[in-house]
Amino acid sequence: MGTLYIVGVPAGRADELTLRAQRTLEEVALLVTEEGTPAPDLPVGCGLAAPSVPVTDTEAILAALETGDVALLLDERRAGPSVPASGLIRAALEGGFPVVPVPGPSLPVTALILSGLPADSFICLGSLPAQPDERQALLAAVAGERRTLLILASPAHLPDTLACLYGALGDRPLAVVVVSGEGTEMVWRGRLGQAAGQVAARPDWLGCALVIGGARQPTGRWEKARLRAEVRARLEQGLSAREAGRQLSALSGWPRREIYRLAMEVTGNMDNLDDVTAQREPDREGMLNHVAALPHQCRQAWALTRDLKLPPHHQRANKVLIAGMGGSAIGGDLAAAVVADSAPLPILVHRDYGLPAWADEHTLVIGSSYSGDTEETLSAFEAAHERGCPLLAVTTGGRLARLAGEWGVPLLSFHYRSMPRAAVGYLFVSLLGILQALGAVGDLEADLQEGLSLLESWGAELAPDSPVARNRARQLAQALYGRVPVVVGAEVLAPVARRWKCQFNENGKGWAYFEVLPEMDHNALSGLHFPAGAADRLCVLFLTGQGLQPRNRLRLDLTRQILEEQGIACHAVPVPGRSKLAQALAGVQLGDYVSCYLAALYGADPTPIAEIATLKRRMSEGR
Ligand code: PA5
Repeated sequence: MGTLYIVGVPAGRADELTLRAQRTLEEVALLVTEEGTPAPDLPVGCGLAAPSVPVTDTEAILAALETGDVALLLDERRAGPSVPASGLIRAALEGGFPVVPVPGPSLPVTALILSGLPADSFICLGSLPAQPDERQALLAAVAGERRTLLILASPAHLPDTLACLYGALGDRPLAVVVVSGEGTEMVWRGRLGQAAGQVAARPDWLGCALVIGGARQPTGRWEKARLRAEVRARLEQGLSAREAGRQLSALSGWPRREIYRLAMEVTGNMDNLDDVTAQREPDREGMLNHVAALPHQCRQAWALTRDLKLPPHHQRANKVLIAGMGGSAIGGDLAAAVVADSAPLPILVHRDYGLPAWADEHTLVIGSSYSGDTEETLSAFEAAHERGCPLLAVTTGGRLARLAGEWGVPLLSFHYRSMPRAAVGYLFVSLLGILQALGAVGDLEADLQEGLSLLESWGAELAPDSPVARNRARQLAQALYGRVPVVVGAEVLAPVARRWKCQFNENGKGWAYFEVLPEMDHNALSGLHFPAGAADRLCVLFLTGQGLQPRNRLRLDLTRQILEEQGIACHAVPVPGRSKLAQALAGVQLGDYVSCYLAALYGADPTPIAEIATLKRRMSEGR
C-alpha cells in the first residue's frame, strides 16, 4: 500500500524545492498536479521520472496508491489544496492510505512575513470569485473584520482587483508580494487608496499575494444618504431586507436593525410610486402634460414646415449651422444625428456667442430659441447677418422674431406655452422639416409616422397612471433615486443621452452627466476609481437600440460589463424604434418621463429652474 505525499513546490525559483521534497518527487511512482498546473522545474540534475496525471483522475490515482507512492504537487501560489485536491486527500484517507505532507515554499506565508502587518491571526480569502456579485458579497462579509486579510490575485487582473478591494474595504495598509523567477519579494507597500494607480503588473510575475490591514475599530459610519442608496440598490437586485442588512452592516458601520428599518422605509417609498397622485402632486406647473404632448408638438411642427419654400440663397447652402442653447439646441443635435447617414452637407450645432470662422455666405444659419431672447443665440444670428449667411429663425417670438422680420428672413414661428425644453417636439421636428425643404434629406414622412405611433403606444405605458410593474420610466426613476445618473449613448442615441442629462438637471434638479460611445471608452472608462466612494453614488444607463453599428453594440455591452465588474450600478435601457427618427423620439419621451418621476421622488416641481433664471437676470443686469 502506497503513501500519498502532499509536496509543496515552488512556482518561481526551482532551487527553493526542499531536499526532502526533491527526494520524494524522485521516488514516487506517480505525480498528481492541480488542474492547469504543470509539474515544476526541478534544480539541474534532478528529473521527474514518474508520469503525471491531473488531480481529477481520482480512480487512476487510487489505483496507483495500491501499488506505490504518489505525490500531489501543491503549488506555492495556493492557499491550500484546491477543492478537487481536498477530495483526493479525503478519498485517500477513507481508503486507508497514509497521507504525508512534505512542506515547501508558500507565497501566502512569505507574503504575511514580508508585509509586516499583524500575522499571528489572519484571514486568507484565497482567490476572489470572478462573479462581481459573489465577490462583492464576500468582501462585504469581511469588511468589518479586524484581522489581516490575505488575498491571492492574478497579476494580469491586479489593477481591477485593487480598485475593487479599495471600493469594498476603503483605504487600508497594503503589501503587494509577488513570486517570479527571481523568487518571492514585496514589490509595493502603501495604502489601498494609492495602489490602483501605482501598481502595474510585470510580465514576469507568476503569482501575487495582497496583504491588507484589518478594519479599524470603530469603522467610520456612512452618511445616511449613502446607506439609503446602497440599501435601495440591493433591494433592486432582489435581495431581501434582511440580507441587505447582513451585507451592509459591517461595511457601513450601521447596525443591522437600523438597515432593516431603512429597507422597509425604502420599500414603502417604492410602493408610493404606484400612487398616481404622488407622481403628479409635486408637478404643480404640469410638466408631465407637456411630456404627454410630444406627439402633438411633432405633428404641429411637421405641418408648419410642410409647405416651406426656401429662397435660392438658402438652397445653395453647403453647410448648416444651428445656433441655440439648452432646450433650444438639443433639437439641432437630434436632427443632425437623425440625418447623419444621408445628409450630403455638414450640420453643426453652435452653442456660443459669435460664429466660427468657417461660417460663410454658403452656410445656412438657423437661429433656434424658444424665447427668442437668448443672448448667445442672438449674438450668433447677428454675426451671421453681418457675414451675409442665409438665415432662418425658429422661435415663439422675442428679439429673434423681430430681427427675422426686420431682415426679411424666413421665420418659423410657433405658439406653445411651456418652458423651452418642454417644446422639444417643435424645436426638433421643425428642423427636420427645414432640412427636408433644403433637399438635405429624403422624405422623412414614413419615419415620422413610425415615431408618432410609437410615442402614442409606448407613451401609454410610460404615463403617470401606468403602474410601476410595466412602466419602464418609473422603474428607471427608482433605480436612479439617490444616485448620480450617467447616461451613455452612441450614434443617434448620443444626443438622446445628452437630452436625458439635461432633463435630469432641469426637471430632476440633480447632478447628471452623459457620455458618448465610442469616445467614452478612450477616457471615461479609466476614471472609475477616485475620489473614494464616488462610483458608489453613480447609476449608469446604457441606451441601446436597433440599428446601432455592431462594433458600437459590442462596445456598449463590454463597457457595461467592465463597470459592473467594478461594482458600479448599471442598467441597459433599450429604446424602441426601427428608424433613427422613431428611436430619437422614443428616447426623448422615455427620458422626459424618467426625469419627471425622479423629480417626484425627490418631491421637486420639475418646471421651475430658479438658478438658470437668476443667472439670466444677473447676466442682463451686468451689461
Ligand atoms: O431648458 C431651458 O429652459 C433652457 O435650457 C433654455 O432652453 C436655454 O436657456 C435657452 O433659452 P431659449 O430656449 O429660450 O433660447
